Amino acid sequence: MSNSESRRTEGRHGGLPVQGSDSAPNQNGGLPLLRRLAYLATGLAFAQIVFGAIVRITGSGMGCGDHWPTCQGYLFPPLERPDLIVEVTHRYIAATVTIAIIALLITAFMRRAQRGVGGRGGVFRSAMLATGLVLTAAVFGGITVKLSLNPYVIVTHLAIAMTLLAVLSIAVLRAGGWGFDRTEVASPQTYRAARAGVMLAFIVLVMGALTANVLGANASCQGFPWCTGIAVTGTPLYIQVTHRVLAFLLFFHMIGVAVLAQRRHEPRQVRVAAWAALGAIVLQIVVAAGMVEMHLPPVWRSLHQAMGTLVWLSIFTLAALAKYSLAGRSGEEATPRAAVAAA
Ligand code: HEM
Repeated sequence: MSNSESRRTEGRHGGLPVQGSDSAPNQNGGLPLLRRLAYLATGLAFAQIVFGAIVRITGSGMGCGDHWPTCQGYLFPPLERPDLIVEVTHRYIAATVTIAIIALLITAFMRRAQRGVGGRGGVFRSAMLATGLVLTAAVFGGITVKLSLNPYVIVTHLAIAMTLLAVLSIAVLRAGGWGFDRTEVASPQTYRAARAGVMLAFIVLVMGALTANVLGANASCQGFPWCTGIAVTGTPLYIQVTHRVLAFLLFFHMIGVAVLAQRRHEPRQVRVAAWAALGAIVLQIVVAAGMVEMHLPPVWRSLHQAMGTLVWLSIFTLAALAKYSLAGRSGEEATPRAAVAAA
């Protein structure tokens, strides 16, 4: 019997045979619907974050000025005003994300009596937190415009948006998504390493956002992998160099996480998530190399931001999968598949 098999049978519920019931996920109609809504909200939130950077990178942030809900009097600006179209699209995606999250909240509320939906560790609580975060992000979006794109407000706005994406990823997991299989048990070592990856990734993101928003920081250090040319010194340079150094640290850390997860025969969902996160980081570093070598073309800046968001989502989802696969997790009945199995 292999390592993961022994961990599989022993680790949970005193070896309760859950195999059979897990294979009937649709017995309980609620979670597949919640899972679809959570995936939809996550996808839309991802698009909103990427579009938010496109608004800033194209300088369209002030396009609509204080006009709301119309933009310079238009609901759909004319094609000859791409700046207004970019800003309005960002607003409409924001509205769609909010509607999707509220739909998730209402559906979870209506099914809160179901296992895996109400209570601690249930989908409803993630949906409530996501609703609070999307409204906070919207308010911060308004403050960003009012304070004429102050870099520290923009970075706070991005941090709130990334937290929202993380909470939605948990909602997907609690609704049985991301290929979660509760019969497999992960080791605490892998969970701790993934959790350290989440903290490091969050700092890399914040330093990246500062590099993109503090004047002169993005052009301060030129060349790859280290600065072959210095255009600006002082704080802007320190910000970008810190971003780069921490990014490479994250890269090496995640190599360790993926290789050790493989060696420890961790659950398949955890191994796949670890290699996917590492793959996203490698792609991100390739994009970063192209971006700085070509002196920050807008399309590559946007691609770098989008890949950065994907790195965050993949590392956070890895840590969540590892956490939910830990043996003897309390509140077991609140985990997604357990709820389906028990229903
Ligand atoms: C794991 C690896 C990395 C992640 C997750 C990451 C993430 C980010 C993020 C989220 C931003 C902010 C983008 C925005 O708000 O528009 C950013 C900006 C930036 N990053 Fe990275 N980054 C990584 C690696 C690197 C590397 C290796 C370099 C340089 C060699 C680099 C150079 C930059 C620069 C110059 C900016 C400013 C771009 C702009 O002005 O739009 N990054 N990064």
